[in-house]
Amino acid sequence: MSGDKSSLRVAVTRRLPEPVESKMRELFDVRLNEDDHRMDRDELLALMQDSDVIVPSLSDRIDGELLEKAGERLKLIANYGVGVDHIDLPGAGKRGILVTNTSGVLTEDTADMTMALIIAVTRKLNQGMAVMQSGEWEGWSPTAFLGGRIGGRKLGILGMGRIGRAVARRARAFGMEIHYHNRNRLDAECEKALQASWWDSLDQMLARVDVVSVNVAHTPATFHLLSARRLHLLQPGAVVINTSRGEVIDENALTRMLRAGEIAGAGLDVYEHGHEANPRLRNLPNVVLLPHMGSATVEGRIEMGEKVILNIRSFAEGQLPPDLLSPGGI
Ligand code: GLV
Repeated sequence: MSGDKSSLRVAVTRRLPEPVESKMRELFDVRLNEDDHRMDRDELLALMQDSDVIVPSLSDRIDGELLEKAGERLKLIANYGVGVDHIDLPGAGKRGILVTNTSGVLTEDTADMTMALIIAVTRKLNQGMAVMQSGEWEGWSPTAFLGGRIGGRKLGILGMGRIGRAVARRARAFGMEIHYHNRNRLDAECEKALQASWWDSLDQMLARVDVVSVNVAHTPATFHLLSARRLHLLQPGAVVINTSRGEVIDENALTRMLRAGEIAGAGLDVYEHGHEANPRLRNLPNVVLLPHMGSATVEGRIEMGEKVILNIRSFAEGQLPPDLLSPGGI
């Protein structure tokens, strides 16, 4: 690939924040998605056949079939986002196409949203908001809207990567007790700093915590990690929070348990079937649902764009992009 950046043809599948698009216009021969429509497979394929770099995001499924049909000139998939479960990494590897993500810059925002959901569900914010919005509040009462105290509750973090650790730091400041399950145990110093207890057995951790926060990436190994069987290990007073990927939880099983009162509540930002949340989760008093907005801050989304640009520029200059992913997966 030549170092002539302006000749690099870059296709972006969704609208990005204006400063990011302006910078891309300056640097590359860029095609932007002016009306922000969701591209279908044919449109994606056309871009993949005719670009050096594509910049997809999580709503674009880039599977093996599309990768096989990609044009010879496609050399880099610079994903706008940290999760890459929508991209067939080994398939890209087979075609010699590099894949990068935007790790790091959305850690704190996503952890903030996780903490917000822990508080929202435990302190029943949705019930308070609903009463204020309906105009039906009848004034303070000693027994209305009673939630649970955050301090002292046991938080079980599933996946102790960057975001999991950022959640742990916040939760400690709120007085929560930190437990975690992760493929690899953190080093002793890190565990000590976070005052976190490691559980080799996820089952055992689930049976003992008050709040479970899913912060693990979706991979074949983590699909339905919170299966019906595991969800039933939770105590009836427990709540489940997910700001990672919906596929990690068996959403039907979770919905059934919430409706049956077998679990106290849930705070969900992500769903098993993309934007189609199970309709039976709606209007439940113990459930707070958000439209996948964990990383949705102006600052974060601009920094994500800057990371994408850095990855593309490093690649164009013949260097390894800083956020290069291994074809073997994450
Ligand atoms: C958001 O979920 C992301 O993967 O960037």
